[in-house]
Amino acid sequence: MERPNYTQDYDKVLRQLYNALIFLASMAVVLSAFLIYYGLTGNPFASWKKPETIAQKNTEASQTIAVAEMDERIENGIHLGTGLAVAEGFEVVRANCTVCHSGHLVAQNRATRDGWQEMIRWMQRTQGLWQLGDKEAVILDYLAANYAPQEMGRRANLNLEAIEWYILEE
Ligand code: HEC
Repeated sequence: MERPNYTQDYDKVLRQLYNALIFLASMAVVLSAFLIYYGLTGNPFASWKKPETIAQKNTEASQTIAVAEMDERIENGIHLGTGLAVAEGFEVVRANCTVCHSGHLVAQNRATRDGWQEMIRWMQRTQGLWQLGDKEAVILDYLAANYAPQEMGRRANLNLEAIEWYILEE
């Protein structure tokens, strides 16, 4: 039976230790290279941002489009981009009333000053419209002046009894 060769085993262990040392040393080199690079260039992972949600992308895109495509021309007293009448208070209304929805939604509606105030209160109560402060009077004046109820309503219903019927003669 052969006796175990302790010298050989010892060499083997030494070699393994040596390899481990080489391995650790190279890791240290890589790590310090990275740290130096990091120090010089800033966080190299900064561009690995969390991907944006689709909603975020869409909002940004639509905001860009809205800004880019806002039509600033005025035709027949109507600002084409917002659909709002250009009159006293227009800029204030534009700034406060076209943020959540288009100005066309405003222009489609008609109401008395009180009616407009009610709509504003409703938006403040339920839709997160902010307090308008002293701008409110300017806005209400503008709305009441430009989007008042139309005087020309429907014609009166026909009153069949009041009609004098006659026979057509040839
Ligand atoms: C904070 C967001 C916000 C702002 C700012 C805002 N609104 Fe609105 N408004 C809404 C929402 C939400 C609706 C409901 C939209 C819908 O039904 O599609 C609405 C609806 C309306 C309507 C339609 C009401 C109806 O009965 O159909 C009018 C008119 C209106 N707003 C006018 C205004 C005016 C005038 C201003 C400026 C003082 C204004 N809005 C500012 C959120 C807002």
